[in-house]
Amino acid sequence: MLNLKEKFFEVFGENSEKEFFSPGRVNLIGEHTDYNGGNVFPCAIDRGTYALIKTRNDNRFRMYSENFEKIGIIEFSLDKLENEKAHDWANYPKGVIKMFIDAGYKINKGFDILFYGNIPNGAGLSSSASIEILTAVILKNIFGLNIDMIEMVKLGQKTENLFIGVNSGIMDQFAVGMGKKDYAVLLDCNTLKYEYVPVILKDEVIVISNTNKRRGLADSKYNERRGECETALKDLQEKLKIKALGELSIEEFEENKGLIKNEVNRKRAKHAVYENQRTIKAQKELSAGNLEEFGKLMNQSHESLRDDYEVTGKELDTLVELAWKQDGVIGSRMTGAGFGGCTVSIVKKDKVDDFIKNVGKGYKEKIGYDADFYIVEVSEGPREL
Ligand code: GLA
Repeated sequence: MLNLKEKFFEVFGENSEKEFFSPGRVNLIGEHTDYNGGNVFPCAIDRGTYALIKTRNDNRFRMYSENFEKIGIIEFSLDKLENEKAHDWANYPKGVIKMFIDAGYKINKGFDILFYGNIPNGAGLSSSASIEILTAVILKNIFGLNIDMIEMVKLGQKTENLFIGVNSGIMDQFAVGMGKKDYAVLLDCNTLKYEYVPVILKDEVIVISNTNKRRGLADSKYNERRGECETALKDLQEKLKIKALGELSIEEFEENKGLIKNEVNRKRAKHAVYENQRTIKAQKELSAGNLEEFGKLMNQSHESLRDDYEVTGKELDTLVELAWKQDGVIGSRMTGAGFGGCTVSIVKKDKVDDFIKNVGKGYKEKIGYDADFYIVEVSEGPREL
């Protein structure tokens, strides 16, 4: 923090007034279910994004990120809140400001802000939701806005959908905004009903393994998967009165899957339905203390994402398949949108060093570059520091 304060002074020539933090998230299970009206089971982690800020007396914003030093200071004003390619990462906070104003919240001044994130960008740990919710929390704080977290979560998702152009669901912003230390949140994305569930790990830790593969095509592929599920849903709606795939039990799906005309779409829908049911089951197993069962469901989730949803790829599969072979691994799967990014594994504490050594070595041999590993804790949501 001291270094960041010094940096703020160096960049803007003045001292910061306030400091904030917003976490990233890891999804334990329930992948590609949120926009299908299903359940997700993520938690906030102890890595995320920091912001130092000083309000201004005019309507200008100056934004700087320690993670994108080369881009330098990005400047814009309240009069022109548009997505600009040259503004790169700053389109996320800018979009949040725009969504707040469009929703009727009064923002009449600019500020200088420095960001620093210690989650890898675009790696499936919600660096974008982290900066979105961070911006929302800052706006609420400095403009004294009367807005609750669920509303901020929705405006964060809106930013992603309308300003950035990724058709993402609500999981990431929800997990970041509603994060609670030592709890995961089971969220029904159909109704937004949620439940905090203790994550009790005595002899185990959560290990995130990063493929270090840039996602590249992820956004277009993501929107493509959404489209495939929507088409499958339309086919099913010819007979069934449902609004989302998440409403179906496995039996209902199996009885009616013949309605889905295209075979690929049928596989996508199968994943959405099975993964949703798996997530509900996983929460019950975790709450009953059956960690081994929870781990098996994580593994099945990965297989389904690999074979039916087809969003894994060589790098994620390599990390997960190596993880499955290690001693002391309870479960391992890809997390987030997929196509690259990270995996999440639950590993016995006393086996973690071997895990990192062996998986790291095997990955490098097969893929040709290093993976990174982080041991994370289930943590609090956003806050002023
Ligand atoms: C991304 C999206 C989420 C969710 C996941 C997949 O993280 O932002 O809304 O769809 O992918 O589970």
